[in-house]
Amino acid sequence: MSSGPLRPGAGPGHSRFRFDVCSFTLWMFHCPLLGKSLYGSMFRDGLGTVALGSAELLEEVLRRDEKFPVRGDMSLWKEYRDTQGIGYGPFTEEGERWYRLRSVLNKRMLLPKETHQFGPLIWEVVQDFTDRVQVLRQSSPTGDLVHDIANELYRFSLEGIASLLFETRIGCLEEPIPEGTQDFINSIIQMFSNSPHVIALPKWSRPLLPYWRRYNTGWEGIFKFAKVLIDRKMAEIECRVHQQEALEGEYLTHLLSNTNMSLKDVYGSVAELLLAGVDTTSNTLTWALHLLSLNPEVQSRLYREVSRSGPEPSAEEVTRMPYLKATIKETLRMYPVVPLNARIFSEKDVTPFCFYHYAISHDERTFSAPFEFRPERWIRDGHSLPHPFGSIPFGFGVRGCVGRRFAELEMNMLLFQVKAQVKKARVSRSDLASK
Ligand code: HEM
Repeated sequence: MSSGPLRPGAGPGHSRFRFDVCSFTLWMFHCPLLGKSLYGSMFRDGLGTVALGSAELLEEVLRRDEKFPVRGDMSLWKEYRDTQGIGYGPFTEEGERWYRLRSVLNKRMLLPKETHQFGPLIWEVVQDFTDRVQVLRQSSPTGDLVHDIANELYRFSLEGIASLLFETRIGCLEEPIPEGTQDFINSIIQMFSNSPHVIALPKWSRPLLPYWRRYNTGWEGIFKFAKVLIDRKMAEIECRVHQQEALEGEYLTHLLSNTNMSLKDVYGSVAELLLAGVDTTSNTLTWALHLLSLNPEVQSRLYREVSRSGPEPSAEEVTRMPYLKATIKETLRMYPVVPLNARIFSEKDVTPFCFYHYAISHDERTFSAPFEFRPERWIRDGHSLPHPFGSIPFGFGVRGCVGRRFAELEMNMLLFQVKAQVKKARVSRSDLASK
């Protein structure tokens, strides 16, 4: 990896997008810390919710999760779907229908045995990523520079989740990226970067300002791309059924052929899984590389563990590597991609709860030296492990992250490969400050 500007960023390098993300990060990470230091572990915030900032309180509330937990209002995501007749996915669906949807989606996604089958698919994408990084380094002026590693990891994550969901490669790691795929990436950026404006502005301003139109055009591009690939897979399945071939499918084939999901519900779910599966893993990996570059002793220990394995580890092997797993876990503790979460209870008079995950995972009563990167705190090595609710980056219970196993496998495999290839890369704090 480059010894150049290895700094976590927002993926695709649009300066406005970066600005939005920077202010958002400040709000998401630092305001909760400030709130906690001023008012303690539980207080009413200005948003009409009760803010929780300790592992114990978080545990108490989450252990009372209802049968159909509610996280918050998703009406903004529902509007486009409603006007286009597209079904809801796991984020937007609620109640009994959500429960049924999750039981279908969980089947192939959450059982370790089932997710290990994704190993060869992910490994192929990992190899293409490292090949691409080699080419980028060699063609750089210094021979070792990757100009925007966050953007490369964004492409990697999108290729990974898309190859799982669509059962085909979409070319994010090719140069140039195929036109349709680039349009799709632009649509995702457009939808996300217009979201803060759409949330903040009143409904009456929608016809007057460009944001609402841009936001919806973003969704249009996302669904258009997903629909083409899903329809293609559906046609392939029909052909196989016609020829009486067995349907030994991967994820999409499973959804389309083994479940009662309608096509419009498959469009809705696949689009949501896709959106949830890109920024989450790519940002975490960017932070992981950044933290490793600042901590050479962690790199050495990780390198020792990784080099005990063969060059092409299976999914089972990487999931058994304790220090590799601890490195990702510690990265997510320091920089949880979902720093705030919530639960709304159906009982009358119960105020919604907002969980300040960043503040909780930096609580020094749970983690000594909370601002230091210490993967070993997650290794059972004669000392007790931290409070189980001190860091729960994937959420908790039946509404917890459906992509967790896939995400962990993808991140473990990528980090394995990077570490197997690079013994030690160091960026000093002064290097970073000077960039
Ligand atoms: C670093 C990687 C990831 C992290 C840290 C993460 C974290 C989370 C968190 C905190 C939640 C909310 C859980 C709760 O409310 O209790 C969530 C929900 C969800 N995640 Fe992830 N996620 C990651 C990757 C993924 C991937 C790769 C996918 C897709 C394959 C995915 C799909 C989803 C979906 C669909 C939900 C909504 C579940 C529901 O409401 O039923 N996530 N994730």
